Amino acid sequence: MTLSTLFATRRSPEAFAFGRFTTQDLANWCWIAAGQTATVGGIYEGRTYPSGGALFPCDLFLALDAGPDWDAGTYLYQSSTHELVLMGREPITSVAETTPQAELFEYSAVVWIIVASLWRNRFKYGQRALRFTMIEAGHMAQNICLGVRTSGHEARCVGGYYDDELADLLHFDSLHEVPIYMIVSGIPATTSLT
Ligand SMILES: Cc1cc2nc3c(=O)[nH]c(=O)nc-3n(C[C@H](O)[C@H](O)[C@H](O)COP(=O)(O)O)c2cc1C
Repeated sequence: MTLSTLFATRRSPEAFAFGRFTTQDLANWCWIAAGQTATVGGIYEGRTYPSGGALFPCDLFLALDAGPDWDAGTYLYQSSTHELVLMGREPITSVAETTPQAELFEYSAVVWIIVASLWRNRFKYGQRALRFTMIEAGHMAQNICLGVRTSGHEARCVGGYYDDELADLLHFDSLHEVPIYMIVSGIPATTSLT
């Protein structure tokens, strides 16, 4: 599929269908989302998306149900080692319940949550730091939306969740470290143009 076809055919699913995916799929999606592509001088890190001052204020978390090689839970994707680090034992339904659209998550494969550490770039960018962090989350989100399509999955962005409930689930204070974006992906069951 060409890049233009990828864009021309994208759509946010309104529901997902049951389907399995492999560890290799998961690895590919994570790498496209936020993989490390370079290390310069042991300090500067390059990833699959740009970051103001290479400070990378956004971290990528995943909620998964149990699969062939992994337990159900919430995971941190560690770009530098290309590993998923288990952070909690909550399955996808627990994350779904932090939204008013729990039914959307049924049969989904991955729930992606971008968490901003708002302090990480503030020393350099001051009041502009927040803007840069939000822009960066958009870059990562786009990587996720396009990346899952390498295996026939589709993504729907979800900004409508209960802030405190999601932050509590992931053990963030919602002040310095804030879940700012959620994306749910899987095999599309139905889509709409509205
Ligand atoms: C920032 C943002 C927040 C969104 N939040 C939600 C949401 O909470 N629930 C939902 O079902 N869709 C959400 N969407 C998806 C939009 O509803 C969807 O992109 C829009 O209807 C256009 O459809 P399309 O993506 O298929 O082109 C969100 C999209 C964006 C970019």
